[in-house]
Amino acid sequence: MVVLVTGGTGYIGSHTVVELIKAGYTPIVVDNLVNSRIEVLDRIEEIIGVKPKFYQKNLVNIVDIEEIFETEKIDAVIHFAALKAVGESVEKPLEYYSNNLIGTLNLLQVMKKYHVNNFVFSSSATVYGNPETNPIMEDFPLSTTNPYGSTKLMIEDILRDMCKADASLNIAILRYFNPVGAHKSGLIGEAPNGIPNNLMPYITKVATRELESLSVFGSDYDTHDGTGVRDYIHVLDLADGHLKALEKLNSHPGLVTYNLGTGIGYSVLDLVKAFEKASSVKIPYQIVDRRPGDNATSYANPEKAKNELGWNTKYGIDEMCEDSWRWESQNLKK
Ligand code: NAD
Ligand code: WQD
Repeated sequence: MVVLVTGGTGYIGSHTVVELIKAGYTPIVVDNLVNSRIEVLDRIEEIIGVKPKFYQKNLVNIVDIEEIFETEKIDAVIHFAALKAVGESVEKPLEYYSNNLIGTLNLLQVMKKYHVNNFVFSSSATVYGNPETNPIMEDFPLSTTNPYGSTKLMIEDILRDMCKADASLNIAILRYFNPVGAHKSGLIGEAPNGIPNNLMPYITKVATRELESLSVFGSDYDTHDGTGVRDYIHVLDLADGHLKALEKLNSHPGLVTYNLGTGIGYSVLDLVKAFEKASSVKIPYQIVDRRPGDNATSYANPEKAKNELGWNTKYGIDEMCEDSWRWESQNLKK
């Protein structure tokens, strides 16, 4: 089965490509390398012995997508490609709306033309806005607090409308919580440009002493230690969720939506402690003001994905930290 993986040289995409190859699929990667590097393809080959076919194309150019579908016989699409930095999306909304929405609309139009009906979409827990309670269920109200999140919710709405109009479509919307960790080989992982915005890559850069100390955003939240609580999920568990979703689409379910999280919430200081234990490196930190737009707590109820996909997370917080640290400390991504 041939699976087009958009954004397949990126963080979550590259791990999913490895798992797809391992499971006997033939992934074809399309990426414009705006936030990833071509060397990732060699790393994938080093891990699994197969270098996936690659198209360096921008999804915003519909003719480029047509060319891929004209050349390849594609059975399903996993759509990771997007810009994903929340803060940057507030500063550059037009770039985010153009890239994420036009890229996706182009892809969906070409899929329709070539009668490709199975589609897995990377959504995010960000579509739950500021949830009133936790754990978060898939039927909670949806809202967003920034342009990045709005692109995810708009695309979800488009997909829901498309499925209402066309019964031949099978679409899995996967709402990821907080992806962390890296491949066990240390050969692929998350490589943010510049100073990281997210907690785990920031911690790993403090550990290598590229950054001096961690700013903990707020210690007066209504949580067990006052710092923000999130549902961190290992990227390998996330990758496996995509394989399970692809299998589900073969049963022609129409539109399905799943939370991909562990169901366990850890605070910022819990993560710092777990990382220190995994790496034996002290992480200096200071408490600063809350970051605007942050929630106190966000964690998933992942029961629907467990029950309907047979998906279970395998990795706990210790392995998340160990694997993030192995990737960062091997420093092979530079
Ligand atoms: P990433 O930036 O590592 O990967 C995205 C890839 O898409 C990059 O390789 C980038 O070069 C590519 N890309 C972007 N725009 C493109 C375009 N127009 N044409 C072709 N390629 C393009 O990000 P990631 O962390 O792997 O995230 C993958 C998906 O998961 C994204 O849709 C993201 O919004 C979503 N998501 C990520 C997180 C997270 O915290 N990492 C959480 C929830 C959802
Ligand atoms: C986690 C916790 C911070 C950095 C974001 C996006 C979301 C999704 C995942 C894409 C919070 C605290 C952080 C730091 C800190 N991405 N923190 N110091 O905000 O839960 O989610 O990434 O879809 O849409 O919003 O993740 O890693 O930024 O923060 O104290 O330097 O760590 O306040 O409590 P977040 P994060």
